Amino acid sequence: MGKPVTTSDPADEVHDAWLPSESFRALGARRVLVRGGGTLVETVVREAEAACERHGGSVRHQAHGDRAPADSVPGDGGSGDGTPGDGAFDLILALGRAAAPSWAAAGIERDGTLGAEGYALARRGGVTVVLADEPAGLLYGFFHVVRLGEAAFADAFAAQRHEPALRERMLDHWDNVDVHPVTRQVERGYSGGSIFWRDGVARGDHDRVRAYARLLAACGINAVAVNNVNVHATETRLLTDRLGDVAAIADLLRPYGIRVHLSVNFASPVALGGLPTADPLDEAVRSWWAETTRRVYASIPDFGGYVVKADSEGQPGPFGYGRSHAEGANLLAEALAPFGGTVHWRAFVYDHRQDWRDRSTDRARAAYDHFTPLDGLFRQNAVLQAKYGPMDFQAREPVSPVLAAMPATRLAVEFQATQEYTGQQWHVCYLGPLWSEVLGFRPWGPDGRTVAEVAAASGGALVAVSNAGADRFWTGHPLAQANLYAFGRLAWDPRLDPIAVLDEWITLTFPGCSSAQSEAGERLRGTLHAMMDESWRTYEQYTAPLGVGFMVRPGHHYGPDVDGYEYTSWGTYHFADRDGLGVDRTRATGTGFTGQYPKPWSDTYESLDQCPDELLLFFHHVPYTHLLHNGSTVIQHIYDTHFSGVERVARMRLAWEQIEADGLVDRDLFARVRDRLDEQLRCAREWRDQINTYFHRKSGISYQRCADTGACCAEERRPDENGASHCRCRCRRIFF
Ligand code: GCU
Repeated sequence: MGKPVTTSDPADEVHDAWLPSESFRALGARRVLVRGGGTLVETVVREAEAACERHGGSVRHQAHGDRAPADSVPGDGGSGDGTPGDGAFDLILALGRAAAPSWAAAGIERDGTLGAEGYALARRGGVTVVLADEPAGLLYGFFHVVRLGEAAFADAFAAQRHEPALRERMLDHWDNVDVHPVTRQVERGYSGGSIFWRDGVARGDHDRVRAYARLLAACGINAVAVNNVNVHATETRLLTDRLGDVAAIADLLRPYGIRVHLSVNFASPVALGGLPTADPLDEAVRSWWAETTRRVYASIPDFGGYVVKADSEGQPGPFGYGRSHAEGANLLAEALAPFGGTVHWRAFVYDHRQDWRDRSTDRARAAYDHFTPLDGLFRQNAVLQAKYGPMDFQAREPVSPVLAAMPATRLAVEFQATQEYTGQQWHVCYLGPLWSEVLGFRPWGPDGRTVAEVAAASGGALVAVSNAGADRFWTGHPLAQANLYAFGRLAWDPRLDPIAVLDEWITLTFPGCSSAQSEAGERLRGTLHAMMDESWRTYEQYTAPLGVGFMVRPGHHYGPDVDGYEYTSWGTYHFADRDGLGVDRTRATGTGFTGQYPKPWSDTYESLDQCPDELLLFFHHVPYTHLLHNGSTVIQHIYDTHFSGVERVARMRLAWEQIEADGLVDRDLFARVRDRLDEQLRCAREWRDQINTYFHRKSGISYQRCADTGACCAEERRPDENGASHCRCRCRRIFF
């Protein structure tokens, strides 16, 4: 833990995250054979060699796989020509034609291709075998063996095939090259500076970028956009005269199977090309993009493509020329097509100059209203990238109806690993369960496809705004690493249980847990699990209630401000008055947003009786006394969840303190988490106090008497050393 990658300045030390030396122990103590050649196979060889050097194993590399004798199978003692037989190895990683002799022996039928990134894994006759058709598959198979640890070399297991559900698993960095006067080096960045850029130039920290690439490959990510979707002046030039900087990053990511993408300014033909227009139907504009893109590929042959935020929050776009977003996206798609590139066209298009007095305009409707009429009009290499919810990465939103309404369009689902609205990496908030709910959501009801299946079948992608930066622990809050890891794992296989992924991350990242015999190891594992598994719901409890969203401080979006956005132009309102709160999005009396869903959800959300509690205020304006399915009134639920959310954070804080003495956690990491928990507790209290006070004042309805004792909790207070008051009765609520 905390081992430097290679650096002379201890301040630059980089945490090993989910790839500490210890996680390679099982593999590194074995005899490993790698068959095959090429850049990615070389990476596997280097990784295996480094592991074996540390843990006593050995690596043999047969770069020309066809050297392997045809009868060489696991259990074979050798070919007689000096080449050891496969039986002389504990682990064989073999690529393509080189793999042929091992197929049958490993029990893997050659029943089709393993795909560009897939692999097969088996253990038989004391040999573990990873087979792949393509180099990327071998790399992912290698990291699978790392994840399994000793289990990869224990009991025999039948052949398993593994292929990613989504062919593109991408991180968008909102990194600026220049330090922007408002959004700074990284927009919504909570992890130090940028991995790639510093003060207007490329950071040039190759070790860190390489270490990042390793971490990403180990969890299955294969694409990275290296700059902010809000493309400012300097960043616009990454496409042309600053392209060398992008190529240098591509060189570092390539050995780990990661393609580089660039966020581009739609008005580049004007800004860079000196043209009078960026009109997508203008011939000169089309030629400019074609030629510029050709130059990009001359310098980065495996360039992934462009990411575009157009006509959104002030960015230029096709609307400026009276053109549609399909026409805009197709312009870039056409330029990329000859090279196999893709344009990710963001669906985050809405009116941010809304009049709060006008209750008929609904920001939630915007993406669907803009894009569904364009279904079928996008070129094959254009991917429409939609945020998972109709608003903006809130802790609770319904799934965006766009994802169910564009059957003839490639779709990417966009998540936000950077915790803009979920505690900004000061709060523990493991987002795996949220993402998993979205991916598993069935827009057409229980018999229909899931969102993940829709995106996969469309040939689309899963994208997350990255939460990594130049911070020693990568993500500011060390426990926020789990979000990066879980994103990759869920993008590879959206059906994974996010809590199992959490445990996987804990095991890899905290080798102290694996001293299984030791009580302390178990305590550490249990503590981390308990702190994180419900942390998203805990965060939801003490922040904006029942899906209403926002209520954050304007601008930086940290901490509570119930009315911060209420009378602004951003379209994010709660409409609380003395009688009730929530946004009426019904067809009957509201904005009609419920009608953007297919059945059954259009009816479920429309109905006050059927609408799930957690989304009630997203879809309905209700009185404070409205009874929820959970038996509580809305106002009592607000009070209760805010008390309980803070209690849960207080318990996290206590639990973390208690593992210090065991000494199984790196001291700096321990201190970093402790300090952040202090802030989380402070901030959670502030949320609780502002929200509860606000709604108490608005509604005039007091906190109910304790169900256990009939006493009024508020009269039964007992102060603690932090200034909070605890109820004396069994409900143990905490007051402010
Ligand atoms: C949010 C966020 C912005 C970001 C935007 C986007 O509005 O606050 O910083 O630019 O999303 O996704 O483009």
